[in-house]
Amino acid sequence: MVTNVNTSDLVSDVLVVGSGIAGLSFALKIADFAQVVLITKKEKAESNTNYAQSGIAAVLSPSDSFETHVKDTLDCGNGLSKKAVVEKVVREGPERIRELLELGVEFSRTASGKLDLGREGGHSKRRVVHVKDLTGREIEDALLNAVAKTPSIKLFENQIAINLAMKHNQCLGCYALDTEDSAVKNFGAKITVLATGGIGRIYLHTTNPEIATGDGIAMAYRAGATIMNMEFTQFHPTYLFHPKEESFLISEALRGEGAVLRDKNGRQFMIDYDPMKELAPRDIVARAIDQELKKSGDNCVLLDISQKDSRFVRSRFPGIHEKCLSFGIDITKNPIPVVPAAHYCCGGVKATIAGETDIANLLAIGETACTGLHGANRLASNSLLEALVCSHHAAKRCKELLKKKPRLQSFAPWEPGNAVDTDEAVVITQNRDEIRRLMWNYVGIVRSNKRLTRAKKRISLMQEEINQYYWDFAITADLIELRNMASVAELIIDSAISRKESRGIHYSLDYPQKLPTAQDTLLKKH
Ligand code: SIN
Repeated sequence: MVTNVNTSDLVSDVLVVGSGIAGLSFALKIADFAQVVLITKKEKAESNTNYAQSGIAAVLSPSDSFETHVKDTLDCGNGLSKKAVVEKVVREGPERIRELLELGVEFSRTASGKLDLGREGGHSKRRVVHVKDLTGREIEDALLNAVAKTPSIKLFENQIAINLAMKHNQCLGCYALDTEDSAVKNFGAKITVLATGGIGRIYLHTTNPEIATGDGIAMAYRAGATIMNMEFTQFHPTYLFHPKEESFLISEALRGEGAVLRDKNGRQFMIDYDPMKELAPRDIVARAIDQELKKSGDNCVLLDISQKDSRFVRSRFPGIHEKCLSFGIDITKNPIPVVPAAHYCCGGVKATIAGETDIANLLAIGETACTGLHGANRLASNSLLEALVCSHHAAKRCKELLKKKPRLQSFAPWEPGNAVDTDEAVVITQNRDEIRRLMWNYVGIVRSNKRLTRAKKRISLMQEEINQYYWDFAITADLIELRNMASVAELIIDSAISRKESRGIHYSLDYPQKLPTAQDTLLKKH
C-alpha cells in the first residue's frame, strides 16, 4: 500500500476503482502507456475474484470448438445475449489464458501435462481451466505480484469511492473516503474505470464477500449512466448451508465431476426437472432446489460426491474439502448440506466490450458492466473470461482516448455541509439487514407482482430515510455502502417489475411465459 500520500499522488491519467481480475488486468495493460492510480476499498486482495473457485471457460481442446462455446453461451443467455459480443469474447479466450500462463498462473494439468479442463452446468464440453478449486485466488495473486512490480501503477488500499466527479456528462475522477484517516480525497483522472465487482451482499444469502455492495453500478447510475438488465441476479444452486458460515460456495465443478443432488430422503430429484440433471444451467438447478425446499419444508438439500475416489476428491477440491472438514463434514464420506444463494449480477452499467459507457471518459468492466455477453443467464465460468477480454479491449480504447489528450480537470473539494457525527449508527445496521432480507424474500429466485410491489414500497421508504441520514451525518464506509445497496436494490426491483415475462434467471409466477421478442431493460436517472 502507498503511504504518506501527497495530493499530487492522487491525480493520474487513469483511475481504476476496484482490485479484482478486471481492474488489475486493465491496469497492467495500460501501465506502459499511462500513469495509473488504482483504489480499492479494503485490502487489495479482497475481491469477488479471490473467491472464484472453478475457473475460466475457454476453447482449449481439439474436441471443442468456438461454435459450441458460442452456442452454449447463447442458449444459456435465453435470447438476450448479443451474438457479436459472445463471439468476440469466446474467440479471444485462448489468447487471454496464454497471457495468464505467462504471468505465472499455474493452471491444473493432466498426467500428460495438458491443461485439465473441468465441466460445469450448461457447457456441452469440458472447457473450464482451473487451479484445483482455488482458481480466483491464484489469479489474483499473480496479478497483484505483477502490479507490485509496475512502478506506473500506484495502489491505494482502504479508499472507498463515494461519488463520481462530473462536469457536463464528463467524468473527472471520483471522491473517495480514506477509511484509515476518515478524510475524503479527490482522485482526479483523465479516464476513470469502474471495476468494483458485483452486488451479492444486497441479498441475505450470497456467495459474495462483504465488499460486493454494487458501488460502481450505484455511482454510475447517480452520475447519469444507463443501467441494463438488473433483474437478472444469478443464484448459485449450491452454497454451504451451515449456521457458522456466511458465504462459502460449493463449486459447480463438483457436479461437473459427478456429484449428485438428493433430498433428505436420499432421492435424486434433478431428473424430474431437466434431462441434463445436475448439469442443467444454473437457473434450472437453483429453481429446482427452491421448489424441493418449498415442497418438503426442509432447510437444505444434499450434494453428494462421496461415491468418487477419495484421493481424487481431496486433490481436485482441496479448498472445499478443508472448509467442510472444519465444520465436521468429510465430503469424501458424507453429503454436503447446500442451498441456493445470490452469486452474480448479469446486469450492470451498460457498456461496450471495450468498457465504454454513455458518460464521457468513464469506462466500466467486469461484473460492474453489462456488455450483453450473459443475457438473461450467465454460463458458468464465463465471467472471469469476460473480465479478461473486456479489460484488454478497454485498455486499447483507453490508449486511443488518451492519444486525444483529454485535459485533467480539477474539481471542488468534498462539501461536508452541516453533517455531524452520527449518534444513531443503528439506522445503518437496521436498514442494511432489512434490504438483505427484503431482497431475499421478495426479489429472490421466484418472483411475483405482489412480492415485487411490496419490495418497491419498502425500498422507497428506506431510500428516503437513508438519503436523509446521508445529508445529516458525517460520511462513513458503512453509510456509503448502505446508500449504494439501496440504489442497487431499487434498480433490481424496478427492472424486475418492468419485465412482463419469465426469461432465464428472472422467473415470475404472474408471467410464466417468455415473450416472443427479447428486450433489454434500460434504466436511467431522470
Ligand atoms: C462455481 O465454481 O461454481 C462458480 C463458477 C462461476 O460462477 O462461474
